[in-house]
Order: sequence, then C-alpha cells, then structure tokens
Amino acid sequence: MKILIFGNGYLGNRCKEVWGDEAIITDKIVNTPAEALEEIRLHNPDAILNAAGIKGRPNVDWCEDNQIATMRGNTILPLNLADAAQEAGVYLLHMGSGCIFYGDSPHEDKAWREHDFGNPSAVYSRSKWAADLILSTLPNVGIARIRMPIDWQPSPGNLIDKLASYPKVIDVENSVTVIDDMIDVFYQLLSKKAPGIFHVTNPGTLRHRETLALYKELVDPNHACEFIDEGELVTCGLAKKKRSNNFLASDRLAEYGIHMRPVAEAIRDTMEKYAREIEKK
Ligand SMILES: NC(=O)c1ccc[n+]([C@@H]2O[C@H](COP(=O)([O-])OP(=O)(O)OC[C@H]3O[C@@H](n4cnc5c(N)ncnc54)[C@H](OP(=O)(O)O)[C@@H]3O)[C@@H](O)[C@H]2O)c1
Repeated sequence: MKILIFGNGYLGNRCKEVWGDEAIITDKIVNTPAEALEEIRLHNPDAILNAAGIKGRPNVDWCEDNQIATMRGNTILPLNLADAAQEAGVYLLHMGSGCIFYGDSPHEDKAWREHDFGNPSAVYSRSKWAADLILSTLPNVGIARIRMPIDWQPSPGNLIDKLASYPKVIDVENSVTVIDDMIDVFYQLLSKKAPGIFHVTNPGTLRHRETLALYKELVDPNHACEFIDEGELVTCGLAKKKRSNNFLASDRLAEYGIHMRPVAEAIRDTMEKYAREIEKK
C-alpha cells in the first residue's frame, strides 16, 4: 500500500516512521482543492492520511485568538483534501479529535458514541467538529478521532511529557489514545478503506493521577505535583478556556475486526518504553 500523509508534524511523522517505505509525507501547504489534487496526482497513492491541522502553540488557547487560521487548518483544509480525494477516487482518512465532546454523554454509561452530535466549546474543538459534520457523510472517507496521545517517544505533544511538566494538574478521567496502537489502527483503516467515524481510543479510561503515578514508579521517583479541581484551571489563570474531558465508546472499530489493547495494559507498556528512552538520554 502507498500512503500519502499530509501534515509534516508530530503524528504524521510518527506514522511515517512505522510505515517506512509504504508512506510518503508531504510538507506541501495546501490552500485549495487544486493544490491538494496536484499533490495527490504527483504521488498517486492508494490511500491518504490527513495528519495536518492547527492545534495552537504553545497550546490550544492560541486558537481562541486566531480563529481564521484555526478554521483554515482544521475545517477548510480537510474539506479541500476531501474534495481532491473524491476527484482522484482515493480513500482519505482524516484525523479528528474526541475533544468535540465536553463532559458526559446522554447515554447511561456517559460515553460518547461515534454518531453522537458534538457539543464543543473552544474554537479548536468547534473547528474540528465543523469538519467532522461535513466529512462524515462522504463516501470513501474515514474520520479517526483520537484523544490525548500517549507515546513512548518523548515529545511536547505527548501527554506524559505535558503532565510531567505541570506543577498543577487537574484531577480528571478521560479516554486516551496510545500512539503505537493508533498507528496500527490507522494502517488497518487505510487498508480496509473504512468509511465513517471511528473512535481510536484504548478501551477503558485513565485519570491523570494514574498516569503520573506510573511516571513516578517507572521514570522519576522524585516527581511531585499538586492536583487541582477541573474548574481551577481557568480560575487560577492556567488556561483561557475549559478543556474537554470525556469518555469515548469505540463501537465501530470492531465492525472491521480492529481491536486496541485495554488502556491499563497499553499505558504500562508505553511508560516502560518511555523510561528506557529517558535513560538513553
Ligand atoms: N496532538 C494531539 O494532542 C491531537 C489530539 C487529537 C487530535 N489531533 C489531530 O491530529 C492531527 C495531527 O496533530 P499533530 O499533533 O501531529 O499536530 P502538529 O504536530 O501541529 O502537525 C500538524 C501539521 O500540519 C501542518 N499544517 C497546518 N496547516 C496546513 C496546511 N494548510 N497544509 C499542509 N499542512 C498544514 C502544520 O504545519 P505548521 O507547523 O507549519 O503549522 C504541522 O506540520 C491534527 O489534525 C490534530 O487536530 C491531535
């Protein structure tokens, strides 16, 4: 399979590292469907991964003050890529985000299903939901929503690095995505050209407190932080907008025979590998 990856950033490159010669990553900045089509025709892929987007630097609060740039990267760009992919007749897997959901779902188990409507608050989340709304009815397009990437490779985008760097951490529970598992699931979705929305999150949920306890056990026994309530993030001036915290149910992967490791198993394995990477430094 030849996969063309748009988005020469953290997660696009993590996929390229694993897929090797089967993948090409482009850093072409795409502003129109014609530019996207030109790039697709140049590489003639069997499938496309959209790992491009705007997540804000140093964090997602940046998007609050840069709405147009956020909309261009997270809403218009996916539409342009989908337009071109339809024209070329090539399957597109678009990276979405589970942060389009805030709080508990109306379902008894409080988890959000793939076809639930989003209730986003922040500009970033709204821009991601806007793309999902339109792309989700197109044939030959998949949407893979991930949450809070957890990776054995140290990186500013890795939830482990983020949490370990904060002196104050909110005490919340979430669905999360372990990157090794995500890359494997993406490959299967691309191979199967699976249409519609998929929640690419490991079964089970994880508290930030649990992640940091494992970090303390396996990486840094001296690590310390203060746990605060979710609301204090904004009231203490640590963030402009409330963050999305939620549980995602992943019902649709099983339809394609795709499974992810339970989160407890995957986080321990990942933290052990992460500790070995830190030791090497
Ligand atoms: N990382 C997370 O926590 C997370 C969680 C859920 C979902 N996601 C989604 O996963 C995707 C990848 O995230 P990431 O962490 O890999 O982000 P990233 O490291 O910021 O990479 C995104 C890349 O897309 C590029 N880009 C922006 N606009 C573009 C355009 N018009 N044409 C071509 N490339 C463009 C960016 O270039 P510049 O650097 O020049 O802007 C950057 O290289 C995003 O859609 C994000 O919303 C990420």
